[in-house]
Amino acid sequence: MTLHDRLIERIRARGAMTFADFMDAALYDPQDGYYTTKAAIGFDGADFLTSPELGPAFGRALARAAIDCWTGIGKPAHWDIVEAGAGRGILMRDLLEALAKERAEAARTARPAIVEVSPRLREQQALALEGKELRWASVAHALAPIRGVVFANEVLDAFPVHVLVRAEDGVREVYVDAKDGALVETLRAPSHPDLRYRVPDSLPVGGRWEVSLGAESWVAQLAAAIAQGYLVIIDYGGEEADLLARGGAGTVRGFSRHRLVADALAAPGDHDLTASVNVTAIRRAAEGAGLTLAGMTTQRDALIGLGVREAYGRPTAPIDQLRAASKRSAIDVLLEPNGLGAYTVLCFAKDAPADGLRFLAR
Ligand SMILES: C[S@@+](CC[C@H](N)C(=O)[O-])C[C@H]1O[C@@H](n2cnc3c(N)ncnc32)[C@H](O)[C@@H]1O
Repeated sequence: MTLHDRLIERIRARGAMTFADFMDAALYDPQDGYYTTKAAIGFDGADFLTSPELGPAFGRALARAAIDCWTGIGKPAHWDIVEAGAGRGILMRDLLEALAKERAEAARTARPAIVEVSPRLREQQALALEGKELRWASVAHALAPIRGVVFANEVLDAFPVHVLVRAEDGVREVYVDAKDGALVETLRAPSHPDLRYRVPDSLPVGGRWEVSLGAESWVAQLAAAIAQGYLVIIDYGGEEADLLARGGAGTVRGFSRHRLVADALAAPGDHDLTASVNVTAIRRAAEGAGLTLAGMTTQRDALIGLGVREAYGRPTAPIDQLRAASKRSAIDVLLEPNGLGAYTVLCFAKDAPADGLRFLAR
C-alpha cells in the first residue's frame, strides 16, 4: 500500500491531520518517507542541489570557519566538529580533507560527528566518509557535551511546518483531509492554542503563515547539547518582516528532478517538500535556549570573508587554466546574489567570543 493510501486510511479512521503531520509523514515516514527512503541530492537523477554538491570550495571555506571556531574556544586538546543533517556526507568529507591541509593540529584534535535521522542518507554518508573515524547520532544530546562547532546547512528547511491562515473570523490551520480518494486541504481551528498568537497582526485576510515548531525545538536541543562553541546555520528564508512582505503567499513547495511539484499533497513520499525558514523564530528559539547571536550574514559575504575566491591561483598551462575556470564558475554559483549567495548564515555562540570569525567579518 502506498503512503498516500495509508494516509487516506489513517484520516478515515482518525480524522483530518495537520499539514505539519502530513509533511512529517511525507518526509520521514519510517517505511515510505522521502528522506527515509528516496532522498536524492545532487545533479544526475536527483531532486535538488545543495552547496556542497557544487565542488570542494564550500567545504574548504567551512573548514576555515571551523578553524576560527576552534581558535575562539582556545584550541582545546579535543574539540568537536558536528554536522547536523549531513545529506550525502560531501560537506563533512570536503571539510575534513581541507582541515587536514590547512591546519594539521586542528584536524588531529578534532572529533567529527554527524547528527542524521535518515537511514538512507546515513549509508551514503558512511560511503563518502569511508576510512574516517566518525560518530553518528540521531539526536544531538547523544553527542553532549559538544565543545566546538555544529554546522547545519539546509536542514531547517526540511522540517514540517504548521500552516496557518488568517480567515475573516480568526486564525485557522491547514489540515489534510480525504475526499473521493484524494488528499485535500481543509481549514480547522489551530491544533495548538499558541499557534494562533504566532500569526503576525499585519498578515492580510487569506494570507498564510508557517510555523515550524519542529525546527524551533530541534535548534533548542542542539543549543542544550553545546557546552561551549558555535552553531552555524545556513539556509533559505528570511526575517519575519521579509516573509510578511510576500503578502501571505505560503512558501511550502515540492521538488522532483529539480522541478517544482504542482500539487504538494499528491504522491507523498515521492518528492521533497520544503518551506523557507523563519529566521526570526529560529533566533528566538536559539536565544531562549541559552545561545547568543554572534552574527548574521549572507552565504555570499560569509564565503568571501573565508577567502573562497582565493583558492585558485593563476595557472599557466592551458588545461590547468580550464580546470581553474570550471572551479571558479562553481564558486560563482555559491555566491550568486539571487541564488545560493542570498542564503542566510546565522552564527550563535555559547561561552565563546563573537569576534575573530572571518565569515562574519564583512
Ligand atoms: C535538504 S537536506 C541537506 C543535506 C546537506 N546538509 C547538504 O547541504 O547537502 C536535509 C538533511 O537534514 C536531515 N535531517 C532532517 N531532519 C533531521 C533531524 N531532525 N535531525 C538530523 N538530521 C535531519 C535530512 O535527512 C538531510 O540529511
